[in-house]
Amino acid sequence: MKKIKETIAGRLSGAIAAAFPGAAVDEAELASMLEYPPDPGMGDIAMPCFKLSRTLRRSPAAIAGALASADYGGDLSVAALGGYLNFRVSDALFASDSLDRIYEEGEKYGSPNCGEGKTVVLDYSSPNVAKPFHIGHLGTTVIGHSLRRIHEFAGYRCVGINHLGDWGTQFGKMIVAYRRWGDKETVEAGGCDALVALYVRFHEEAEKDPALNDAARAEFHKLERGDEENTRLWKWFIKISLDEYSKTYRQLDIEFDSYAGESFYSDKMPAQVEKLREKGLLKLDDGASIVDLSEYGLPPCLILKKDGSTLYPTRDIAAAVYRYDTYRFDKCIYVTSAAQSLHFAQWFKVVELMGYDWYDRLVHVPYGTVSINGAKLATRTGNVILLKDLLAQAIEKVGVITAEKNPGIDDAARDRIAEEVGVGAVVFYYLSNNRIKDINFMLDDALSYDGNTGPYVQYTYARTCSVLEKSGGAGREKPEKYEFSAPEEHDLLRVLSVFPERVESALEGYEPSYIARYMLDLAAAYNRFYHNCQILGAGSADAVASRLALTYAANTVLGTALQLICMKKTPRI
Ligand code: ARG
Repeated sequence: MKKIKETIAGRLSGAIAAAFPGAAVDEAELASMLEYPPDPGMGDIAMPCFKLSRTLRRSPAAIAGALASADYGGDLSVAALGGYLNFRVSDALFASDSLDRIYEEGEKYGSPNCGEGKTVVLDYSSPNVAKPFHIGHLGTTVIGHSLRRIHEFAGYRCVGINHLGDWGTQFGKMIVAYRRWGDKETVEAGGCDALVALYVRFHEEAEKDPALNDAARAEFHKLERGDEENTRLWKWFIKISLDEYSKTYRQLDIEFDSYAGESFYSDKMPAQVEKLREKGLLKLDDGASIVDLSEYGLPPCLILKKDGSTLYPTRDIAAAVYRYDTYRFDKCIYVTSAAQSLHFAQWFKVVELMGYDWYDRLVHVPYGTVSINGAKLATRTGNVILLKDLLAQAIEKVGVITAEKNPGIDDAARDRIAEEVGVGAVVFYYLSNNRIKDINFMLDDALSYDGNTGPYVQYTYARTCSVLEKSGGAGREKPEKYEFSAPEEHDLLRVLSVFPERVESALEGYEPSYIARYMLDLAAAYNRFYHNCQILGAGSADAVASRLALTYAANTVLGTALQLICMKKTPRI
């Protein structure tokens, strides 16, 4: 079955050949030139003819004029406006592109189907153990997981890795802090919060007494050498942290295939350092070993400190080699804050210089900073908003709203809705922004039921569920004949047929926001249809069946999209 743009491109190419003898424009290229006008009042799909000017050697307006008089078949009408050729697509053609396909493919509708037989490794979330898991990590966690779902949807085998920051001098600091100011009971009772309190205390005290930093370094050295007591403490800190992260991951419905963190690569780094040395890439710089990247306009990449200890890039290089050997990835994606862009550019270059021919399969996906209700974060001073606290606040507020909206609802149902919608609201708010933009997170805006929000989208999804339920499941059967009459139906058909393209762009651009924003368009189109068209009370049996088909289609596509951006398909809210 051809997609709408392919159908139009096919007919357009015939029209071009007839109007401009001797000229030939490739159909696929034509399809890629077609656009959706920002104002659908102009047309459903437009050809900006300036894109053809060079090939056809005419002005855009002359081209549009010449092509407007061609015959495009009964299901496409066309009008020239300025340099644009605006096509109006019949309801029947739209329905065959969207509804028929949705009945055929169900929840697979929209899959780009390009990942078959390919593997993608995704490195995301990756908090630093014993430091707070704060809202700065929201981006990597939800963008990463959404990219995973999108790749899975496209047929890729996905390996999700939580590259835990479980190694480094912060553990020396934690050990010192725990011995001086901590005790087992407090840490056991307080969990991560108690660890973070110790971490913050360490920094406060070290301001006054810098010798503490030396003590921390010494403890980390002992840990590196396998000191038994320090190893025991280190493992304990990790366990406490992971127990707590797992609650947040469960709320977000996230699972990882591997928790191989930085410490996992300790014994895998020497071989890579050796390889760098053999290739003559290592240079001594004031006692430290670096790779000079000045030729590529980059600062040097630090491989070993003066004292021979390894660094963040060293571990990333060893991890990439290990991952390639283990998973033979077609892509290895790293989702981190844009503050780390230079780090990735540097060590990606080093991997290339080392001669690994898969270097161009490494992809860094950066994102902007988050502030919350206008306040910036600062980990070291303890001025942070923990991710779990943000989610808990959202859940609590939605719980109150849910109880108000559904008097008499039982507690278990209210709690489930509150968690799904509260967490969904946070995720949606975050993912509806272009990832690279800085976000000021306003919780009350995120939770509004009538803004461009998660609750609004989930509410619309629940509405489609309830219409289908009322119809006794009739919408799940493809109607024998479509009968459409209202402009709201036409709009909804158009929005439904755009979905596959949006998924493709999200995949290619590593940009879940395309899907989130698409959901707002779809929800708005469905709600306009719902308010202006009677569904079960439509004029004829065919019209009822067609409106139920639209509802079923909106339900299916919203459901798929919700899952792609890590939200729940909540049938009632
Ligand atoms: N733990 C790091 C942080 O919180 C992020 C790790 C990202 N992944 C990687 N392979 N470098 O900043």
